[in-house]
Amino acid sequence: MKKFSSVVIVCISLVYSSEIPDNINKILNDNSCMSCHNITTPYKAPPFAKIARRNLKWYGDNAQERIIDSIKNGSIGKYPPFGNTTMPSFPYLNKQQLDNLSKWILSLKSYGYNKRGNCYRGRGGYNYEH
Ligand code: HEC
Repeated sequence: MKKFSSVVIVCISLVYSSEIPDNINKILNDNSCMSCHNITTPYKAPPFAKIARRNLKWYGDNAQERIIDSIKNGSIGKYPPFGNTTMPSFPYLNKQQLDNLSKWILSLKSYGYNKRGNCYRGRGGYNYEH
């Protein structure tokens, strides 16, 4: 049987930050979320699209609650490839901010993937510059 060779595919998003709602963009900027995260590409932390998929897959209806909990209290060890970085806690974000952030993250669940679930390939832009 022919083995699949492992190929590293970098998912490059077609999303531009202009599509991020202003209120979300402000929270992301004020708290430097994007110094670690990206939307579809792994950086120092798992990409938000991946976070959405993982939480929906594992926790279904409780996904939003889990995401809020991780933002409020921080997180470590759930995404082994990022073991060297700890997600800091953001205990001062208010309920509304947490609600908006978590809904937005969940809305990214299919970003970076086409309808068959494969990564988009090619050059694209997600214009948070790291
Ligand atoms: C210093 C880097 C850093 C910053 C800044 C940061 N994160 Fe993270 N984040 C991480 C890492 C690393 C993980 C993976 C943690 C793990 O493996 O459990 C993570 C995980 C997460 C998760 C997923 C947790 C889960 O339970 O699935 C969410 C949601 C998240 N971050 C949101 C945010 C938001 C929103 C901000 C800004 C308010 C932010 N992060 C800022 C590093 C960071």
